[in-house]
Amino acid sequence: MKGVNSLVLTFFLLALASTLASDPSSLQDFCVALNGTKHSVFVNGKFCKDPKLVTADDFFFSGLNKAGNTSNAVGSKVTPVNVDQIPGLNTLGISLVRIDYAPYGGLNPPHTHPRATEVLVVTKGKLYVGFVTSNPDNRLFTKVLKKGDVFVFPVGLIHFQFNVGETAAVAFAGLSSQNPGVITIANAVFGSNSPINPDVLAKAFKLDKKVVDYLQTQF
Ligand SMILES: *[C@@H]1O[C@H](CO)[C@@H](O)[C@H](O)[C@H]1NC(C)=O
Ligand SMILES: *[C@@H]1O[C@H](CO)[C@@H](O)[C@H](O)[C@H]1NC(C)=O
Repeated sequence: MKGVNSLVLTFFLLALASTLASDPSSLQDFCVALNGTKHSVFVNGKFCKDPKLVTADDFFFSGLNKAGNTSNAVGSKVTPVNVDQIPGLNTLGISLVRIDYAPYGGLNPPHTHPRATEVLVVTKGKLYVGFVTSNPDNRLFTKVLKKGDVFVFPVGLIHFQFNVGETAAVAFAGLSSQNPGVITIANAVFGSNSPINPDVLAKAFKLDKKVVDYLQTQF
């Protein structure tokens, strides 16, 4: 009976551990990603390269010293370093981004990462950052960050960064997934492919349908 109980406890703890973790734990030292084979089956992650063929370059990326081009509508640029750039990240539950912000108003617009918590460090400039908790409270947590400051965006929550300094700003962020995913709220809602029926958005956002039509042309 005692054996059965400890078995049950073990299963419970395992279930708990997998609920708390991000990407599933690795079952080997590494699993360097290969993109799909001709005879693909779906796996949770990418196919593994034969370890005998793995080289240091499978764990390497160069170029995060280069500023992203912020000449765009929002004035920011995210340079990702995830499993698509470093195949050796496959199954390891971690990745990285560099984010550049144009002076005065460069914005990384409200978005969520469905699969990752993010920890961001500012290396240049001054950013107003924040996230909003889930319903029903929708509490806003914000800070103004300067060089050397670190802020955490918990998994799945809507967050943003906005340059409130006079110079260009730069931040780097670690994310707890090999493939964090991004849902940019405005783009997903007003720029979906194909468009959501405007009646839905007019009612949901308490907007005139003409405003919805306008917004849908903008994304
Ligand atoms: C940055 O992007 C803008 C708009 O696409 C483009 O006109 C410009 O040449 C780019 N600048 C650099 C340095 O690539
Ligand atoms: C795998 O596919 C992604 C998306 O198509 C691509 O960006 C990446 O460069 C590819 N990686 C390798 C190792 O071929």
